[in-house]
Amino acid sequence: MSFDRLAPHYRWMERVLTGGKLQRCRLAWLGEVRESRNVLVVGEGPGRFLAEAARALPSVRFCCVDASAAMLERARVAWANAGGKPLRAQFVRAELPAWQPPAGAFDLVVTHFFLDCFPPESLAAVVTRLAAAARGDARWLLADFCVPARGAARLRARLVLWAAYSFFRVATRLPARQLATPDACLEAEGFRLMRRRTSDWGLLYSDLWQRGAPASAAGPTSDALAPGLRAASVRPP
Ligand SMILES: C[S@@+](CC[C@H](N)C(=O)[O-])C[C@H]1O[C@@H](n2cnc3c(N)ncnc32)[C@H](O)[C@@H]1O
Repeated sequence: MSFDRLAPHYRWMERVLTGGKLQRCRLAWLGEVRESRNVLVVGEGPGRFLAEAARALPSVRFCCVDASAAMLERARVAWANAGGKPLRAQFVRAELPAWQPPAGAFDLVVTHFFLDCFPPESLAAVVTRLAAAARGDARWLLADFCVPARGAARLRARLVLWAAYSFFRVATRLPARQLATPDACLEAEGFRLMRRRTSDWGLLYSDLWQRGAPASAAGPTSDALAPGLRAASVRPP
């Protein structure tokens, strides 16, 4: 698996195919994590989230991890162009779940459109590995795709995901063949869902999870907002 070949094309393809929808998902809860200090951003790709975070969180330190050297270099350039100071960001080329992050070092984990790269059998290992790097009260931002429970929105989502997985399988040799949802893995690591916003007919969602939050502080369950998300995995057609 490698996103190197795709890296020069990733941003224009996103712009043409999805407009600003994915970026709105990435930034949905950025305003809620302003007091973070050490942030782990994994599978960041060309750095669109990182550039906004550099501006919105000016005193935060970032560790940006990606398996693709070409993606990582673009993220570094995006960071610098956004005025991010070199000392505030570290760029690490590494592959999950093999990479061993420092234990309990981060108060925020960010995985945007990254967990969908993994088949169900390795998703839990990736979440467990990243959770080990998170503090006991850490938060986790994630944006990704999902499949609504029923109707035309479900059919549309299945078609879009079938096309997307077919493309990424050829372009990057992505190991995942279907969408696996990370909710149960996050809950097993002590995170609770605090906020969830779905968009684009239920195809996209943005989450804020918090570790160690009392049940009373948790937001609506994913069942309430997007029943399709509770499935362990959802096959494209
Ligand atoms: C679909 S792109 C998402 C990029 C970006 N986060 C976004 O919001 O569009 C997935 C990114 O994760 C990286 N990636 C995929 N599998 C990985 C792995 N096992 N370990 C580390 N990075 C990985 C890829 O190189 C790529 O940059």
